[in-house]
Amino acid sequence: MKIYSLFIIMTLTLGLRAQAQGKPVYLDESRPIEERIDDALRRMTLDEKLAVVHAQSKFSSAGVKRLGLPDVWTDDGPHGVRPDVLWDEWEQAGQTNDSCVAFPALTCLATSWNPQLARAYGESLGEEALYRNKNVMLAPGVNINRTPLNGRNFEYMGEDPWLASRIVVPYVQGLQSKGVAACVKHYALNNDEEYRHQVNVIVSDRALREIYLPAFEAAVREGGTWAIMGAYNLYNDQHNCHNEILLNRILKQEWGFDGVVVSDWGGTHNTMEAVLNGLDMEFGSWTNGLTWGASNAYDSYYLALPYRQLITEGKLTTKELDEKVRRVLRLMFRTTMNRQRPYGALCSEAHYEVARKVAQEGIVLLKNDKLKANGNLPLLPIASDSRILVVGENAIKMMTVGGGSSSLKAQHEVLPLDGLCGRFAHVDYARGYVGDTVQSYNGVTVGRSLYDLRTPEALRAEAVEKARQADVVVVVGGLNKADYQDCEGHDRRDYAMPYGQNELVRAILAVNPRVVFVNISGNAIQLPWVNEVPAIVQAWFLGSESGHAIADVLSGDVNPSGKLPCSWYARLEDCGAHATGSYPGTWREGKQIIDEEYKDDIFVGYRWLDRQRLKPLFAFGHGLSYTSFAVTQAVADKSEMTSAETIAFTVSVKNTGEKAGATTVQLYVSDRKSSLPRPVKELKAFRKVFLQPGEQKDVVLTLDQRSLSFYDDRTQQWTAEAGDFEALIGFAADDIVKKVKFRLK
Ligand code: GLC
Repeated sequence: MKIYSLFIIMTLTLGLRAQAQGKPVYLDESRPIEERIDDALRRMTLDEKLAVVHAQSKFSSAGVKRLGLPDVWTDDGPHGVRPDVLWDEWEQAGQTNDSCVAFPALTCLATSWNPQLARAYGESLGEEALYRNKNVMLAPGVNINRTPLNGRNFEYMGEDPWLASRIVVPYVQGLQSKGVAACVKHYALNNDEEYRHQVNVIVSDRALREIYLPAFEAAVREGGTWAIMGAYNLYNDQHNCHNEILLNRILKQEWGFDGVVVSDWGGTHNTMEAVLNGLDMEFGSWTNGLTWGASNAYDSYYLALPYRQLITEGKLTTKELDEKVRRVLRLMFRTTMNRQRPYGALCSEAHYEVARKVAQEGIVLLKNDKLKANGNLPLLPIASDSRILVVGENAIKMMTVGGGSSSLKAQHEVLPLDGLCGRFAHVDYARGYVGDTVQSYNGVTVGRSLYDLRTPEALRAEAVEKARQADVVVVVGGLNKADYQDCEGHDRRDYAMPYGQNELVRAILAVNPRVVFVNISGNAIQLPWVNEVPAIVQAWFLGSESGHAIADVLSGDVNPSGKLPCSWYARLEDCGAHATGSYPGTWREGKQIIDEEYKDDIFVGYRWLDRQRLKPLFAFGHGLSYTSFAVTQAVADKSEMTSAETIAFTVSVKNTGEKAGATTVQLYVSDRKSSLPRPVKELKAFRKVFLQPGEQKDVVLTLDQRSLSFYDDRTQQWTAEAGDFEALIGFAADDIVKKVKFRLK
């Protein structure tokens, strides 16, 4: 009793002391945030409340000057802190203090299958944002890769909801550990860019819940994200930035989200819907999120004067407004008003190390066959004294500039050719082809010009001539960040490799079979010569340390461990979104709406391939190594589990090769019998493991009831039906090495 009364006395004393000092509750850090919010809200006028729920400039919203509540500064993007722009412009402000570290694209981070690395990524980005005085990072993106044509897949975490949810949670927690809010985007169903402002997605409840929402749900319920960004497209005929079902019912009521819903830039279309359907902060109205927009229209924003008028006319009370302001105040007390925030740093060695590590662990060795013309050895890793010919525009093209809102002003970007020249003694170069020579975005330009007026034939002839005497030819090609490539605002027009690269590869193969193709892209691409090229490496958009990481892996200094986060289809028709003809949708008569029905339903990615018994070029979860691994045993701690229990699989993994390396053991669940259709298998657990040659380690992979459940749209509940299940354990979706049966009682 004594302690309790002592506590009461202390609290009263502190409270009185604070009052005595005249410090208002909202400024008193000793008080709970919710009390501070109540006190601040009480003190705010109607105009101050309206000011904080919409933008005042391209990337900021107002604070409350009179009360000392700072403005809220947001910034892109998922891979680094975007350079400052002018107050009401997209063009960069031309400052000289805002160059940043460009971290690898999030598809690369997902490809590492390394949650610890995702945490480090979030922390590093948080420090860069903190140093640059940004309170909300408009990141990460977790839309599911449903079609390899989607222009923005490079910003997202692949096709599988479980992998995406395991990577997004630590990224958000790392970022927010620095007192900088994550703003997970684009909620939801923004799975292609073409007509992104007009697509009305029609999708089953099961596909919505089992495929498209889980990464957002994890970001909210496990990651505790402080902000969510509504997407441009519509769902159920309502814009996602003010969508009753997605925002009010699922996000806020069902998941208990207590943060702010931020519109995408130009995603707000209607005051009443914005007021009633869960939008908390309106940004970028009348812009397309990339270029055009009415300037200085902030007073006429939907949540500005039009909203004020509805209140003063008595058509609305301030009930909804107060709820929005509470959430904005909570964001402030978590960020700008948070005195416990640690310190930031910009372009530090530590951040470059993280960028390089994510790049190294995200590079995928897709193929590395033995080659007669190479002494019956695989081409990779390349010996240091080899005479290497590097071919291709992507060896000299900066990829941190362009691609839309994720574009950056990197302090440096080590290009593939630079990295290779720095690591190997004998490197020659031939352009091989000219693709996109544009090297600027929003006023950020890159030093090196890419102009080359030679004809395709001349470019190819030079590459072929030089290839004759090379020990190995490293073609660095793929896509880039130009419009209609891997770029926001549009999708690719087809699945083919652009710029005549296929002819170039074939012409080189004709004179020298020792070809390594390093593909730089955010998406899978058709590879017609896949059987003729002995070695293929997938190098995503790797950011500032691109060239170093590529050289690290090609030289064998680093043993590749990346595993594909998306299926690499042999043909576009093997992808459900295209096989069902549902992409890009059907224009509604006389409307500006295009209905896109997700007819592939829950069968996305490998789930589709399994169901159709199709083989991909390279499977989800595929990635080779310079060593080899084996699962020597897999045992479960029980053969029967109740829905209240978990089941743990102890998997013994051995490095059976000569080099140290890492691999990821994957566990897919197969429900042998279910009352509704289910995929053949679904990823539900994985663990990356680093092993010395000959070393063996046990990893424990655990499943719970949710792991076995599907979303039953008849009851609107997640349901795990009793019966037989199988744990399929392996190194890729098409490389299952152990199967362990078990029952759910
Ligand atoms: C863009 C993007 C969004 C970005 C925002 C601000 O249109 O859709 O991801 O954060 O607008 O640039």
